[in-house]
Amino acid sequence: MVKLYQKKIAQYHGDIIVFFIQQPQKGAPRCDNPEVQKILSAAFAAHDFTGKAGQALMFYPINHDKALPAKRCLLVGLGKGKIFRENMREAGGVAAKNILKTRSKTALLVTPDIVHLNTGETAECLTEGIILGAYHFDKYKTKIEDQDKRFLTDIFISSQHGNIALDGINKGKNAALAACKCRDMANEPGNIWTADSFAEYGSAIAKKYRFKSKILHKKDLQQFGMHGILAVNSGSTTPPTITILEHITGNKVPKLLLVGKGLTFDAGGISIKPSEGMHEMKYDMCGGAAILAFMEALGEEKPKNIDVISIVPATDNLIGPAALKPGDIITMFNGKTVEVVNTDAEGRLILADAIAYGIREYKPDMIIDLATLTGAVIIGLGHHKTGLLSNNDRLAKKIITAGERSGEPLWRLPLGKEYTNQLRSDIADLKNFGGRQGGTITAAAFLQEFAGKIRWAHLDIAGTAWNFTEKSYIPKGPSGIGVRTLLEFVRNWK
Ligand code: BES
Ligand code: MN
Ligand code: ZN
Repeated sequence: MVKLYQKKIAQYHGDIIVFFIQQPQKGAPRCDNPEVQKILSAAFAAHDFTGKAGQALMFYPINHDKALPAKRCLLVGLGKGKIFRENMREAGGVAAKNILKTRSKTALLVTPDIVHLNTGETAECLTEGIILGAYHFDKYKTKIEDQDKRFLTDIFISSQHGNIALDGINKGKNAALAACKCRDMANEPGNIWTADSFAEYGSAIAKKYRFKSKILHKKDLQQFGMHGILAVNSGSTTPPTITILEHITGNKVPKLLLVGKGLTFDAGGISIKPSEGMHEMKYDMCGGAAILAFMEALGEEKPKNIDVISIVPATDNLIGPAALKPGDIITMFNGKTVEVVNTDAEGRLILADAIAYGIREYKPDMIIDLATLTGAVIIGLGHHKTGLLSNNDRLAKKIITAGERSGEPLWRLPLGKEYTNQLRSDIADLKNFGGRQGGTITAAAFLQEFAGKIRWAHLDIAGTAWNFTEKSYIPKGPSGIGVRTLLEFVRNWK
């Protein structure tokens, strides 16, 4: 769908050609193409287009056989000063939005030559922006309105530096398509996307990329004594699963364990949530979706310098005659006992079992978990940054850098024994709720008890997995957060 275009730009006869225009410190913006320059100068004189970020201007070239034979031409502003990866992504998103307003089937994006950004990254981020920006989910619409109809099928990216650009295009494509898969899973409602769906999706990935895989079903969980996930599932008639994929290189390389919260619907259990907004809790599986989508991207790239094991514990959290009750005490996979003070603090219970199982089974060198774990992180950081908590500074830094490069910012919060103490129970090893104060931190502190001494980082994506800062390439609804950050983390792993 996205390909490198190697012919001359002036020979492009397709439906739409897109130029990305930088805004000069002052005066009219510039473009190599003489036809485009004429329009640019006229548009600037009319005060309609300066090259400001977010601006878009479309026109219909008249001299079809000259420098601009495409049917339509779109100019997208890149803004003033230094252009970074994120600016390219946003410009790609703006291009997508405007192309989709037309009936264009094919489009050519002309990569600009940016002083501060190399050709590969320019192509990579433009590709990400256009794919992510063109995302839509209309599976459940039986009738699609005219203005929502989609025509775009082939996107070409041109560059004067073929192979470097191609590498960037492939990276961007792989990352963005995976993030879109994550959005697809997240958009599925709780009655369709169940714990079994995770198992099926994971198995399909395993088959396609030859990952070793393992699905744990309810009876396995019972046999292993994984009472964290079993307890959360006890109010449900839909059985839980744990989906495990293994990317093992056979080399002597570090082993990364990934764990994603796959809570397919969180009603809160007996500690039931208020009904307003409860429907959004179908998104409580975004951590699990991100992990599986990431594994798919990993399957395409198969890096040889890192082993990755992914574990997605999946269940819903409902009310039923057998449901977990406040005050119940359960014994987790690793033998720790937990007093369940609040059944709505369920994410940590399923993650703790998965982490403990992953440690015993795979002896990882490091662990990263992704979870829509606390409403408190939204109070603290809003919908703009993911909360990061870690017992290791180097690991935390690497993740923060990967997030910055991906346009998925993270903000680190502290851990510490004061917080862990909030989880002390009078009658069990731990309780699952440490009060509202520092809610994001105490939730992480609970997980920390299960990670033990292993390098571990927790990403609380409750604020960013959906309703993430709206941008040209981030739609309303699920954002696919985490997928591209993880990929960036692994790509830069040293
Ligand atoms: N899935 C929720 C967290 C959440 C809340 C995500 C709002 C997105 C938006 C989680 O399982 C939960 O219910 N957390 C509780 C924890 C509390 C009971 C300690 C919360 O945040 O209220
Ligand atoms: Mn909950
Ligand atoms: Zn939850």
